Amino acid sequence: AWTDFERATIKDIFSKIDYECNLFKCSCFLRCLIVYPWTQRYFAGFGNLYNAAAITSNPKVAAHGKVVMQGLEKAVKNMDNIKATFTELSTLHSEKLQVDPDNFMLLGDCLAIVVAAQLGKDFTPEVHAAFQKFLAVVVSSLRRQYY
Ligand code: HEM
Repeated sequence: AWTDFERATIKDIFSKIDYECNLFKCSCFLRCLIVYPWTQRYFAGFGNLYNAAAITSNPKVAAHGKVVMQGLEKAVKNMDNIKATFTELSTLHSEKLQVDPDNFMLLGDCLAIVVAAQLGKDFTPEVHAAFQKFLAVVVSSLRRQYY
């Protein structure tokens, strides 16, 4: 269950971040690929991630960054029903993509860093806690169809 503060905070964060912006889309997802290089194994064919241009203009990274953000936006719109909302997505990551579920929170942590940087001093300890709780629910929902 969510408190009013948590609900308002999550909606507020997602309304503030400009996730259509290439820099944002790339920076979360690209950070994950670079800081946790084993995550690259699921994205063969993404090209060179290690040049200055990749941070803003690798189109494949940006496209997938956007897909992930759209998934999260769905969770924000269905905050009381995230598990059910992500049933299919969980099955896809498990059975078809065979993504190791430990990777979900790694991406979540990258997202938290970028969100914190965007919010600046509005990213208070209480906001951080609400955001982490949201990520934890998202990740446990994505893990749900694994066995
Ligand atoms: C595809 C969401 C984490 C690997 C997708 C799709 C969504 C999504 C919405 C598109 C599904 C479709 O086409 O119907 C998310 C969310 C994540 C997450 C919300 C966590 C916050 C990860 C992680 C990895 C991963 C950590 C691997 C390290 C993939 C791959 C695809 C995919 C390989 C298919 C890409 C393609 O070829 O189109 N994800 N994902 N995902 N995801 Fe995730």
